Amino acid sequence: MTLTNATPFIAGNWKMHKTVAEADELVSQLMAASADMMEAEVVVIPPFTALNKVKNTLCESPIQLGAQNMYWEDQGAYTGEISPPMLVEAGCRYVVIGHSERRQFFGETNETVNKKIKAALYHGLLPILCVGESLEEREKGETMAKVGRQLSEGLEGLTPEQFSQVIIAYEPIWAIGTGLTATPEQAQEVHAFIREKLSENYGNTACSCAIILYGGSVKPANAFSLLKEKDINGALVGGAALKADSFIELVKESIRAYREK
Ligand code: PGA
Repeated sequence: MTLTNATPFIAGNWKMHKTVAEADELVSQLMAASADMMEAEVVVIPPFTALNKVKNTLCESPIQLGAQNMYWEDQGAYTGEISPPMLVEAGCRYVVIGHSERRQFFGETNETVNKKIKAALYHGLLPILCVGESLEEREKGETMAKVGRQLSEGLEGLTPEQFSQVIIAYEPIWAIGTGLTATPEQAQEVHAFIREKLSENYGNTACSCAIILYGGSVKPANAFSLLKEKDINGALVGGAALKADSFIELVKESIRAYREK
């Protein structure tokens, strides 16, 4: 499968929200609006416990399924972890790797992120690699250095072909769940840097097609201005993905932005 950024890519990360019953209700509401979302790649990312049920409900729907995390081994004595083959079996196409909450609360490092990226690709899962700076790093002018390091260490050892299966999500930590969004200009500046930096390793062609998402308090009211920016190809959405009407509106706004780009 070749990834392309010709249409907007909108992924709803439900984090530790939604019981199985609630997840099923939300995805059913989203499916009812599928016709309005055809021009986007729409992905739902429920907690592990709801993956199976959500996949069964989605059935042949164009809405895709993703997972929030995984371990890099196939199986073994790793209490509490979930392996790539388990996610494949559950019907996942995508997996989020290195979300800032995983780095902050669960000790993930660029090194573990790299192992996970390689394991995901090996099993045919498409990783969504999250990168982003803290407020302190931004204020000290270290944003690009931090993001650059997360990219080079997180993607270390990947061939250009492997890289073509990776999605990047720029998520400034200070904007996640805070209601503070990077301005479109701030986000575009980092997205352009990411594309440029990646092209040094993987070539211009691969990088012009790469999907680079923005995440951090994206909502229906700001999706249009963010996605109008040249290098912003979609969004990784937390809070606004938990209710069907706001997520659907956000997808529609993203499609509208892409049409006007
Ligand atoms: P938020 O979360 O939209 O609630 O800020 C985004 C994310 O963590 O991916």
